[in-house]
This record gives sequence, C-alpha cells and structure tokens, in this order.
Amino acid sequence: MRIDFLTIFPELIESFLRCSLIGKARETGLIFSKAWNIRDFADGSQRRIDDTPYGGGAGMVMMAEPIMQSIEAVRRIEPQSTVVCLSPTGDVFNQAVALELSQLSSVTFLCGRYEGIDERVLKLGVNRKISIGDYILCGGEVASMVIAEAMVRLLPGVLGNDQSIHTESFQKSEEGSLFLEAPQYTKPSMWRGHSVPEVLLTGDHGKIAAWRKEKSLELTRTVRPDLLQPEDSF
Ligand SMILES: C[S@@+](CC[C@H](N)C(=O)[O-])C[C@H]1O[C@@H](n2cnc3c(N)ncnc32)[C@H](O)[C@@H]1O
Repeated sequence: MRIDFLTIFPELIESFLRCSLIGKARETGLIFSKAWNIRDFADGSQRRIDDTPYGGGAGMVMMAEPIMQSIEAVRRIEPQSTVVCLSPTGDVFNQAVALELSQLSSVTFLCGRYEGIDERVLKLGVNRKISIGDYILCGGEVASMVIAEAMVRLLPGVLGNDQSIHTESFQKSEEGSLFLEAPQYTKPSMWRGHSVPEVLLTGDHGKIAAWRKEKSLELTRTVRPDLLQPEDSF
C-alpha cells in the first residue's frame, strides 16, 4: 500500500513515519509512504499558500492551486489514489472506515490548516472528507496520523499476531454488534493486593472464552450501549 501526505508540516509526519509499527512496515516494504510539502507547489519567493476569505471573516484560507498541484504530483505516480481531505465537516472516522481504507492500494491525505481549504479544490481533487471527531484541531496532520495508524495495523503482516485484530474492540459480531474488549491482565498474578480473576489462571480455554465474552458484553452495555443491537442490550 502507498500512503501520501500533503501538508505544510512534513516534518511532523516524517517523525511519525519513522516510528513504531508504521516505521517497521516501511522498512519491510509492506507500505511506501511520503510526506509532500504543499509549499513546494506555491509560486513566488514567499511560497504563499493562504489568503484572506472571500466574504470576510476571521483567519486565512488555503489556496486551491498549490493544493491541486500537490494532488496532481501524487496522481502522476498513482493515478487512482484516493484523496482523503481531513475535515471536521467529513464523515466521522471509525474502525469500519479504517478497514475500508486499508483495502485500497493508495491513499493520499490532504491536511488542512488555518480556517480550512478553498472549497473548489475539494470538489475537483478530493474523493472524500473524513473527520476524526466532533472537535476542532489546528490542522489535519494529527488526524491523518490517527487514520493512517488505524489503517496500517489492519494490513496483513503488520502486527506480530494478525489474530489480535479479530479479538479487539470494535470488531463486528455475526449479529452486527460491536463489542469492547474484555479487561486484560499480565504478570504478576497478585499486584498491590489486587489479584487477577481466578478463571484466567485455570488454563481452561472454554471457560476463559466465556468469561471474556461476558465481560466484553458487560463493559459494552455500561460504556457504549449504542454499539449493541437491541437483542444484546438487555
Ligand atoms: C482550524 S481547522 C478548520 C476548521 C474549520 N474552520 C471549521 O470550522 O470546520 C484547520 C484544519 O484542521 C483539520 N481538522 C480540524 N479538526 C478536525 C477534525 N475533527 N477532523 C479532521 N480534521 C480536522 C482540517 O484539515 C482543517 O482544515
């Protein structure tokens, strides 16, 4: 999979790309990734990429042309790349969207700054807009990293144990419910007067699976009842 980032702060993205699972996935060739500086596509000695909003109002708006040129630069390499603009006005991101994006061969993240981006380039060059939640960040970089990390860990071979994907929170059950994962414990079995639930020490895989299912349902009912189907919720 190829992942490109269009940003005015490539250094933010580059440090992210060097670390952790993403760094390893790049080293082993599971992904190819690059951060492009939108300013490199701007004219003049100032390399200006923003201007005042038509109609007045606070702040500055990112200009269409440097952004369109940066999209075109990626599309010369990957004509079919899906361009995702990070925006509070987009579809809200979740695990299902992460799965959908992880199945594409090329994704390009367009990271906004200031008050946002000239709407015309969104119409002409962007395939979809995604929000990471109902709050306002200073820029799309952190949002793009959230999405890239959620996507990349779903790619076969990225996690040490691919099986863990199927037991994590937000995996859909056959009935269509999403469940939060049951609590996890590690050694020592007694820590500061608190012991691990007895069943986890029995080695009985059937009982452990049943306990985990029960705890997962209990937790989901308490914290996120909205994830359950009506038949699971009481
Ligand atoms: C200060 S925000 C602009 C907010 C915009 N004026 C509005 O009210 O919708 C600057 C940039 O941060 C990014 N951003 C901010 N909040 C976001 C969110 N919740 N999800 C995704 N991107 C976000 C977008 O790329 C946006 O263009």
